[in-house]
Amino acid sequence: MNLFDVYSLYDIEPVAGKGNYVYTADGTEYLDLYGGHAVISVGHSHPHYIKTISEQLAKLGFYSNSVQNSLQQRLADLIGELSGYDDYQLFLCNSGAEANENAIKLASFHTGRKRLLAFSKAFHGRTSGAVAATANPKIIAPFNQTDNVVHVPLGDIEAVEHELATGEYCGVIIEGIQGVAGIVMPGDDFFIELRDVTKKYNVPLILDEIQSGYGRTGQFFAHQYSGIRPDLITMAKGIANGFPVGAVLISPEFKATKGMLGTTFGGSHLACAAAIAVAEIVKSENLIDNAAKVGNYLIERLHTIPNLKDIRGRGLMVGFDVEGSGSEARKQLLFNHKIFTGGAGESTVRILPALTVGTAEIDKLITALKIQFE
Ligand SMILES: Cc1ncc(COP(=O)(O)O)c(C=O)c1O
Repeated sequence: MNLFDVYSLYDIEPVAGKGNYVYTADGTEYLDLYGGHAVISVGHSHPHYIKTISEQLAKLGFYSNSVQNSLQQRLADLIGELSGYDDYQLFLCNSGAEANENAIKLASFHTGRKRLLAFSKAFHGRTSGAVAATANPKIIAPFNQTDNVVHVPLGDIEAVEHELATGEYCGVIIEGIQGVAGIVMPGDDFFIELRDVTKKYNVPLILDEIQSGYGRTGQFFAHQYSGIRPDLITMAKGIANGFPVGAVLISPEFKATKGMLGTTFGGSHLACAAAIAVAEIVKSENLIDNAAKVGNYLIERLHTIPNLKDIRGRGLMVGFDVEGSGSEARKQLLFNHKIFTGGAGESTVRILPALTVGTAEIDKLITALKIQFE
């Protein structure tokens, strides 16, 4: 059987990982500044992560959501403490797209309305509602096209108000920092205006923090730089360091009813163990502070390379543009310098390492970029 050929693959197969590095079978070492697409939060093969998952697997890997599972409450307590949203409620699922589906559904149940407002260049996932909210017609199948989603330009508060004034909207969805678009920051002032206007029209605000959350930007959530509190917040990627976990944080104003949401795999014992281990490591190793500190260092050092353009981002969610092809630049970093990075659009390189990354690893990137681009 052939694999369904949807990915453009590098001809490299990492078979092991340790900290901020991955290794191919012949022992070649690669610096991982991509984190498997912003997923690796606590580094590869962290001993506490391995121990916690292994011990849980030896006890009980899975039972369904029809019985008590105190690991879910332990995880909720840790996320509440780390995020500052301990008064919110937690719903666990399996991916970022699924987290967004559930958040959109909750907003619609709560308001009884149908329409969703999203922004230009947004990426919210590939399932039905999430892909409809994504501003990329190439990945929206005819089945997923719906008049229920309207996109307005990011930053255009008048356009937002014009739509919300119709009274038809169940929610507004926005990324903390747009990732797939190439690290586009909505701006703290825009978040404040958006919170005000969504409150004015009683429309739930959904913050998609799937890529920008879990400490990546130097705050637990990117929107926390603006001081706003959304009604629903979605998470995935870094939450369990590669174990598939998604989550929705739900404001206390939303009341649950039995059967309103559900999942077979979400919140399983093994998934909770993985996410608990990550939360414990993020807490005990002060990784959010590290993301802020090393992220500032990264941005400062990138500015010393004259040929890089539009250096942007926060913490360890950073992008810059190169002259010419971004994908070619990434290939050179990978094959000539053994450094994994992320891409976006024609000319953007994204740096999305584990939150454990240090200044020594950043220096390796800077040395490579100087050789490549000066
Ligand atoms: C902002 C954002 N939302 C949603 C998703 C979808 O997450 P998943 O691939 O886990 O479904 C992604 C994935 O890149 C993302 O970056």
